[in-house]
Amino acid sequence: MKAAFTLAALSGSLVAAGDYFGVISARSASPIHLLPMNAGRGRIYLGGTADTFCPDSVASAGGCPPTTGETNFLVGNAATGTLVMGAEVPGGQYVYIDTCGAVKYTVAHSGTIPEGATQTGWSVTQGASFGTLNWKGGLMACNEDNTWFVYGVQTDSPVPDTCLTFDALTSNQTEPDAWQYTTA
Ligand SMILES: *[C@@H]1O[C@H](CO)[C@@H](O)[C@H](O)[C@H]1NC(C)=O
Repeated sequence: MKAAFTLAALSGSLVAAGDYFGVISARSASPIHLLPMNAGRGRIYLGGTADTFCPDSVASAGGCPPTTGETNFLVGNAATGTLVMGAEVPGGQYVYIDTCGAVKYTVAHSGTIPEGATQTGWSVTQGASFGTLNWKGGLMACNEDNTWFVYGVQTDSPVPDTCLTFDALTSNQTEPDAWQYTTA
């Protein structure tokens, strides 16, 4: 609860606790149909599990969330369309798209976004049984070394042959699943 309000305050939004969501990819008859969207080592990818970290000092105080290996997200500022990682670490972790289109997120305790990267363009629309996470140009997954890394589709370049566009279906979660997501 406390972490959610901290994140909301920092991102200048009116996000209420409980607006966390997980994401599943949908592209029928493809290898990326119904894979969880996860975070690890600073990248967002489809499949696998989340790569998370909770410091010993927090663990010994019983403060680590019950990590299930899933990745949660949160709309940051709905007006500007920012996306935040569902992480409890003070200051939060912010999603950005780098100049190559790769979807990444900030190091804990930093918030620094690389030169030329974009944080905006995200939105979530709600449906009866699930929602959809959108990025302005669309989302695609590109197979690199047997991992489907997530990219924002850049309006000035076509979708490469090694990539598949997909729909990002959201399901509501009540609390963050990680203290922080790893960036190295
Ligand atoms: C998920 O949460 C959003 C925001 O609170 C809400 O509008 C939506 O109805 C919820 N979706 C489901 C399927 O419960």
